[in-house]
Amino acid sequence: MAKHGENVPPLEARGLGKRYHSGPAELTVFAGLDLRLEAGDRVALTGESGTGKSTLLHLLGLLDAPSEGTIRVDGQATEGLDEGGLANLRNRAIGFVWQMNTLLPEFTALENVMMPLLIRGERKGAAEQAQELLSEVGLAARGHHLAGELSGGEQQRVVLARALVAGPKLLLADEPTGNLDERTGNMIMELIEEVHERRRLTTLYVTHNPAYAERATKVLELRGGKIRNLGAQATPPAS
Ligand SMILES: Nc1ncnc2c1ncn2[C@@H]1O[C@H](COP(=O)(O)OP(=O)(O)OP(=O)(O)O)[C@@H](O)[C@H]1O
Ligand SMILES: [Mg+2]
Repeated sequence: MAKHGENVPPLEARGLGKRYHSGPAELTVFAGLDLRLEAGDRVALTGESGTGKSTLLHLLGLLDAPSEGTIRVDGQATEGLDEGGLANLRNRAIGFVWQMNTLLPEFTALENVMMPLLIRGERKGAAEQAQELLSEVGLAARGHHLAGELSGGEQQRVVLARALVAGPKLLLADEPTGNLDERTGNMIMELIEEVHERRRLTTLYVTHNPAYAERATKVLELRGGKIRNLGAQATPPAS
């Protein structure tokens, strides 16, 4: 468990590297990356296609193991954890929003949102909690619709509700607006900002949209296997 120190960062990576092997070829996506998110950060991760943003998010989200380096989530080291330990930490500490629709289309919105609670054995009250989350993302009336029958924007709201239902403090989002039209994308960005504030989250989101990057409190760029800090935004965006 996390120490109750003041300066335990919600997420910290040191010397992170990832290599892929395909046949005889080896691809080093990045090496020696350091990254530290402070509590309350809302960070945009930018960079050209193929620079490794999704790869990095998978590592930080404990969905894939780094080739080298360490990741601490909420002060807890992750290197020694087995699959079960990683899954527990993911479930408790991290919410994910991906660009691709990751909902189960044959299940209702409500059932999809309940899933993280059921996975950790919390059946009791799960439906009520999931319904609350659906309300929070403006979809209270859609709980009993099949996920596959919702619009893209509605589905992304459900994904966000599912990401947050287990009460994580860390939100990782990989191009959360990537498949949406501009207006719907703006709504999802605003919603992410709202829940970030309300739930006092630490958020890292990947975006190719300069306007969305500008709205972050910090902007990072992944380029040539290195992370560059493009600086903090001086003032929060006017809304
Ligand atoms: N499972 C894998 N096996 C082999 N190579 C991979 C694998 N996943 C990703 N790569 C390679 O790693 C590099 C980084 O991919 P990644 O998807 O992380 O880029 P990205 O920055 O997210 O790009 P985009 O902006 O297009 O989403 C690419 O060259 C990609 O081909
Ligand atoms: Mg990507």
